[in-house]
Amino acid sequence: MAKRVIVTGGAGFIGSHLVNRLVSEGDEVVVLDDLSTGDAAKVNPNAKLIALDIRSLEAKQFIKDFKPDLVFHMAAQINLRKSLQQPMEDASINVLGSINVIQGLVESAEDISKVKFVFSSTGGAIYGDVDTLPTPETVIPNPLSPYGVAKFSVEKYLYYYHVVHGLPYVALRYSNVYGPGQSTKGEAGVVAIFLEKMLSGETPVINGDGIQTRDFVFVEDVVDANVRAAQNDVTGIFNIGTSKESSVMDIFNLLRRFVGKDFPEVHGPAIPGELQRSCLDFSKAREVLGWQPKTTLEEGLRITAEAFAKSVKQ
Ligand SMILES: NC(=O)c1ccc[n+]([C@@H]2O[C@H](COP(=O)([O-])OP(=O)(O)OC[C@H]3O[C@@H](n4cnc5c(N)ncnc54)[C@H](O)[C@@H]3O)[C@@H](O)[C@H]2O)c1
Repeated sequence: MAKRVIVTGGAGFIGSHLVNRLVSEGDEVVVLDDLSTGDAAKVNPNAKLIALDIRSLEAKQFIKDFKPDLVFHMAAQINLRKSLQQPMEDASINVLGSINVIQGLVESAEDISKVKFVFSSTGGAIYGDVDTLPTPETVIPNPLSPYGVAKFSVEKYLYYYHVVHGLPYVALRYSNVYGPGQSTKGEAGVVAIFLEKMLSGETPVINGDGIQTRDFVFVEDVVDANVRAAQNDVTGIFNIGTSKESSVMDIFNLLRRFVGKDFPEVHGPAIPGELQRSCLDFSKAREVLGWQPKTTLEEGLRITAEAFAKSVKQ
């Protein structure tokens, strides 16, 4: 059945892909986005864009008046390094803004058990330095950045809203998401940064030795996880990753193959405090949501390289 849906951050990278999918399924979709890093041109023409800050009274009032069945909350300050320099601004958007959105939904719902809140959390920044890899949800998060602390706080608020007010929710802890349309400013911008450089003929700089690993998940697989989270009656927290580690060097080598130019390997200084390894166990999402990543890293990087090449030519 078609739903009334709000996607906060729907003018951003992941949000705009999700909006395309929801519109194609016939949902009535409103995007709440202040366009700080998002782009109005990315918003599907069959969705309605409301340009508001998620912290504003107007945004909350809009949610109350619209009375959504479903909210996908993706709007965020997504730059981890910025959160270290400006923790107050990060918390203002990522904690207070999130509470404003949740509160709007809770106040608008006639029967709270019939609505759903799907939150974009992080798996890359929430666990901190852990020994268990791939990391399951049973590992207690000890985030090492204000960005990670803020995401963890919102998960705790959601738990409170669930137990005390009955709000059904799912928090999806994504690993490093990549794909067409990603901007170079993101939390996990390495794919976008390397591609932008390579396609403009410049050699990208690899931070440190490049053997640091991440778990790279393709954006359409993340969209699929969101849709399943909304359709399923479950409440809870799920890792969304591939359970596979890939190094920055792996990404560099695959991308230079797809771009078709033999860029030299140039290394810069390592980023102090950067995690050496990160990888998420997605078994819980497979068992409960029936979700698994469908796109291999090679396939996903090829699609992404082609899409970036097209947008550079335009
Ligand atoms: N990209 C990743 O690898 C990754 C990994 C883990 C989690 N996430 C989470 O997924 C979500 C989407 O990330 P993305 O990569 O698409 O980032 P993005 O920057 O492309 O999208 C975020 C959107 O939120 C909007 N926004 C920011 N502050 C706002 C505010 N105060 N009010 C209204 N809108 C605001 C921006 O304009 C942008 O369109 C975020 O919550 C992010 O923390 C992303």
